[in-house]
Amino acid sequence: MDKNEADKLVEKLKGCGAKEVMEFLFGAFGVKAAIASSLGAEDQVLTCMAAGINRYFRIFTLDTGRLPQETYDVMQETIEKYRISYSVSFPEAGDVEKMENKYGPNLFYESVENRKMCCGVRKVKPLKKALSGISVWITGLRREQAATRGNLEIIEWDEGNNMIKANPLALWSEKQVWDYIKKNNVPYNKLHDKGYPSIGCAPCTRAIKAGEDIRAGRWWWETPEQKECGLHVKDGKLVKSKARDSRE
Ligand code: ADX
Ligand code: SF4
Repeated sequence: MDKNEADKLVEKLKGCGAKEVMEFLFGAFGVKAAIASSLGAEDQVLTCMAAGINRYFRIFTLDTGRLPQETYDVMQETIEKYRISYSVSFPEAGDVEKMENKYGPNLFYESVENRKMCCGVRKVKPLKKALSGISVWITGLRREQAATRGNLEIIEWDEGNNMIKANPLALWSEKQVWDYIKKNNVPYNKLHDKGYPSIGCAPCTRAIKAGEDIRAGRWWWETPEQKECGLHVKDGKLVKSKARDSRE
């Protein structure tokens, strides 16, 4: 698959709904298409849709080693409900040992540089490993989540990873996500009920206050322009994890 073929696919899937996009991708690419799941609300919608298509689809999660217990709880619940298995990608033990021996366990609070180092070791490198041998990765990204996600397409060519990136929920609203979850009785992370609309690693995620942006609880001690985790890169630039912060 190259960019030209990807462009044809973009044309072909224009105007398709989320489930149609997933049906097409799993039909055309089989296990060469994979859902990247952080077990967040959007990823749970995709998981439920995929399970309704074929329960042998590929789904991976990056277990950073610092996830909240609630994330493991919803993962277990999802495995049992849909009878699926996740491919779990861990950081390299040697990388974590070296980093923590040198900088300590809470290095991320000390500087943006340290925080990016930790995201690099615990997320970005394992993502590269998880994507090897895959032609399409499917994410739960939505346009509404941040200003920098505002031009997200349902199907894109991911230059950095040299593959197709599908964002079937790109045009969905938060309400649509939750309506789907409730209607289909989809398991969801219980932290969502406690003021956490967006959930990452435990030490880097907190509940938001009324009126705050949905991603204000992620890396809350950093300024909006620094909030880049490195998983989502577009046109050679990091897609900032959060741009519509209440402090902007
Ligand atoms: S992040 O860049 O701030 O971490 P966010 O939490 O909004 O991303 O998640 C956006 C999408 O990235 C998710 O829907 C999922 O597809 C992917 N993603 C994020 N974290 C993980 C993870 N730990 N494992 C697998 N996929 C992930
Ligand atoms: Fe490390 Fe925090 Fe990034 Fe998780 S979100 S990888 S704990 S810096």
